[in-house]
Amino acid sequence: MDHSNYVIDQMISAKSIAARVEELADEISANFKDSDKLIVVGLLRGSFVFISDLVRELDLPVEVDFLETSSYGNSTESSREVRILKDLRGEIEGRDVLVVEDIVDTGHTLNHVLHMLESRKPHRLEVCALLDKPSRREVDISATWTGFEIPDEFVVGYGIDYAQRNRNLPYIGKVRFTE
Ligand code: IMP
Ligand code: MG
Repeated sequence: MDHSNYVIDQMISAKSIAARVEELADEISANFKDSDKLIVVGLLRGSFVFISDLVRELDLPVEVDFLETSSYGNSTESSREVRILKDLRGEIEGRDVLVVEDIVDTGHTLNHVLHMLESRKPHRLEVCALLDKPSRREVDISATWTGFEIPDEFVVGYGIDYAQRNRNLPYIGKVRFTE
């Protein structure tokens, strides 16, 4: 499936995202108040813009680490098979961990990542996802904090790609194929 003709319709403005990120950061800061052992783990590559905005709004001492899982390739369909392409640099045993994800779609990626991280015995393990597509879920899993619930549309921007493009858009837009 190689769609080369598409347009992007704005769905969530940069201003709305910034306002929501501030709210999420306030809730997370309050929730982890007094923690001096928080590691914020970004799932590459889709969460790189979100995590950079989020951590700058957190009123907590934090460390940042990254994990990369396999992606959809150039298709808009999930492969359902999740592989770890790049593991964390640091240990998480006994630490508070906040996983930052761009989108929870079928839930397979998050399910796999959480099981793997849980086996390393963190003190706490929570998730902040920018977007959630609940109607697409195949695994019963949800983030602790969610930015926006969206319908079953393929979206790009603010770090999220279609075939590696459009990550640099400052807003979230939906992809509309024109032929
Ligand atoms: P899941 O395993 O099906 O929940 O897929 C999660 C991953 O699929 C996300 O981290 C995204 O990288 C990718 N993904 C899901 N929906 C979209 C989309 O609408 N646009 C771009 N990537 C998506
Ligand atoms: Mg992803």
